[in-house]
Amino acid sequence: MLDSFNDRWALVTGASSGIGAEFAARLAGLGMHLVLAARRTDRMNELAESLQTKHGTKCHIVTIDLSTLDAGEKLVNAINELGVDIELLINNAGVGLIGEVSTTEPIDIQQMLNLNINTLTDLTYRVLPGMLERGHGAIINVSSVAAFQPVAFMGAYAASKSYVLHFSEALWAETRSRGVTVMALCPGVTETEFFEVAGAPGWLLKHSSQTPAKVVRKALAALGRRRQFVVTNWKDYVMTILVRLATRRTAVNESKRYFRQGTKETNETADQTPSTPSPDEQNNS
Ligand SMILES: NC(=O)c1ccc[n+]([C@@H]2O[C@H](COP(=O)([O-])OP(=O)(O)OC[C@H]3O[C@@H](n4cnc5c(N)ncnc54)[C@H](OP(=O)(O)O)[C@@H]3O)[C@@H](O)[C@H]2O)c1
Repeated sequence: MLDSFNDRWALVTGASSGIGAEFAARLAGLGMHLVLAARRTDRMNELAESLQTKHGTKCHIVTIDLSTLDAGEKLVNAINELGVDIELLINNAGVGLIGEVSTTEPIDIQQMLNLNINTLTDLTYRVLPGMLERGHGAIINVSSVAAFQPVAFMGAYAASKSYVLHFSEALWAETRSRGVTVMALCPGVTETEFFEVAGAPGWLLKHSSQTPAKVVRKALAALGRRRQFVVTNWKDYVMTILVRLATRRTAVNESKRYFRQGTKETNETADQTPSTPSPDEQNNS
């Protein structure tokens, strides 16, 4: 599949940094022309210039806030004006929000869900029909290893990524016999600006992580095999299996240790968590 990308167009959302910028670089290396979309024009200009110089491929930049409800329509209109078909859509733009409910602004949650869920879904529904008509094309929707379980103190984010995983897997099953692949990409902790933006500066330094280069390499290899999802790190993959074996109560209580803010109340609650599940709990798991 990757061979057929040469001289075709990819749309990469969230291309101004991290995993999105890495996708742009790798795809230009495969000979793809790119539409890059995000808010920070200067970052995308810099990237586009270096890729054009290095690979001679075309780059078009769309400066856009993808957390607004009409963003998908605007972006696709901009692409239609270019008169190109999108062979590969990388729905990568996303943000996280870490913190307790009482200190989180509801508007921030709303914008995050618009970006992580609504725009990703809207773009998929606008781009996928053309791929099905042509009988080829692919979509990578960036989910997360957090999609496999509830995560305390980043509940809305983790749930948004569960949506992305389930949505993508369903479309994979619907479309695979028609020459199109929809895949969910589930990275674990990755060295990007994500945790700074999400409200946990310095968190990355205290945890083991992978590079965006590794994430993108694994993603493209899995896409080549037409997989429905990929977890990019084997330790994270093992965690996704263990979560299935544990009770739901154990899994969510364990998740508290990642982003607990250290308040007396939350620490005490965590410490009082029974390690042996009750029969009720077993029934709920
Ligand atoms: N880093 C991790 O540990 C990790 C793990 C699992 C999954 N992920 C997922 O990976 C994806 C990429 O994140 P990253 O780790 O590469 O973080 P990042 O470096 O912060 O990149 C996020 C990208 O999304 C764009 N973006 C954010 N809000 C936007 C908005 N309102 N409109 C348009 N673009 C917006 C940003 O561009 P602008 O700010 O210029 O708009 C940036 O290009 C996200 O979906 C994230 O959930 C990350």
